Amino acid sequence: MSIKLLIIAGARPNFMKVAPIFKAAQAHNHARREGEPFLECKLVHTGQHYDQKMSEVFFQELSIPAPDFNLGVGSGSHAVQTAQIMTAFEPVLLTAFGNPQPSTINPQPCLPDWVVVVGDVNSTLACTLVCSKLGIKVAHVEAGLRSFDRTMPEEINRIVTDALADLLLTPSSDADANLKREGIPADRIKLVGNVMIDTLVANLEQATNNPILDKLGLTEKEFAYVTLHRPSNVDHEQSLRSIMAGLNKLAHQLPVVFPMHPRTRKMLAQFGISPASNGSFKVLEPIGYLDSLALTKAARLVLTDSGGLQEESTFFRTPCLTLRANTERPVTVTLGSNRLTDAQCLSDDIDKVLSGAMETGQVPPLWDGKAAERIIQALAQHG
Ligand code: UD1
Repeated sequence: MSIKLLIIAGARPNFMKVAPIFKAAQAHNHARREGEPFLECKLVHTGQHYDQKMSEVFFQELSIPAPDFNLGVGSGSHAVQTAQIMTAFEPVLLTAFGNPQPSTINPQPCLPDWVVVVGDVNSTLACTLVCSKLGIKVAHVEAGLRSFDRTMPEEINRIVTDALADLLLTPSSDADANLKREGIPADRIKLVGNVMIDTLVANLEQATNNPILDKLGLTEKEFAYVTLHRPSNVDHEQSLRSIMAGLNKLAHQLPVVFPMHPRTRKMLAQFGISPASNGSFKVLEPIGYLDSLALTKAARLVLTDSGGLQEESTFFRTPCLTLRANTERPVTVTLGSNRLTDAQCLSDDIDKVLSGAMETGQVPPLWDGKAAERIIQALAQHG
């Protein structure tokens, strides 16, 4: 017996979540005993992110198989991007594993048994909607996270995806509680742990022996690593100006490394703000996964609005200041090394970190590198 899995990835933070799922499926197939299903996996890349530095580099570094289908959708407003992914995905979904119509030659319909979506980007939502309307089962990896802030596009994506998905694979117990409160039956929820940390654990050695610090002339624990791309921070001139002023000030205290997301670069140009790259304020092009991991591990301070970096810095016990009013990953604050901040408090909070006044916390449960194994077990069981 085989189970057909169609796995979806579209944007940068998806790639490190699908990589361990492919590896765990392969390991399952290798070690499977009689009676256990063979997992036939295919990958769809929606093309939401398309620049080499936002997409391809992750496939190379994480040895993700080349996508079986690339929808090539690209950028657009939320409505346009979501609709284009839906339109392009439907025919692929119906034919990815062969002819969907049972015939005398092929009596079995060839639809996927599961479509696996990860995270909270527009690709996650769009593909889930298409599957639900066609009655094809969806498994959502990283289900149940909530910021309780519906001005965040990702929060809308999370709520709708979880309401429609058939199997909700959660990273932490707060996610289970959120889903139960929303009326999702307990038998659809399965706590599997943090799949992003699987990729981190698998690449720990490369993070330790990575040459990026030497390349950038940095010393361990003597620099800040910054990433910023949320619309709430970068799409408003006042907020972006004030954050950039805070970063320029920080660069007088210690070197700042800032690989810049294309959205942020575009908005700086639109507002006529100069990023003032100089010796101690290093503005770079987007960097790959291994370089980012190495910087997160070695930094004195991470300053970010990314979801993934809040988790990765928690794993490394690197102090992290998150430039957001809320987080859908509360364990990074309650247990980990993450604290929320805003443009007004930024300087004071940076001083607290630099004076050593911030606790570095502990690694949350089920951040053990085995989440993908548990995901595959759950899918194999639910057949
Ligand atoms: C998306 C996700 C966000 C995630 C982020 C990680 C949604 C709603 N948002 O935000 O949750 O944290 O990815 O990066 O899905 N662009 C390029 N090259 C690319 C991709 C984008 O230049 O390869 C530029 C385009 O100008 C585009 C803009 O970045 O308009 C925004 O891209 P988009 O995918 O719409 O959202 P992100 O801000 O990347």
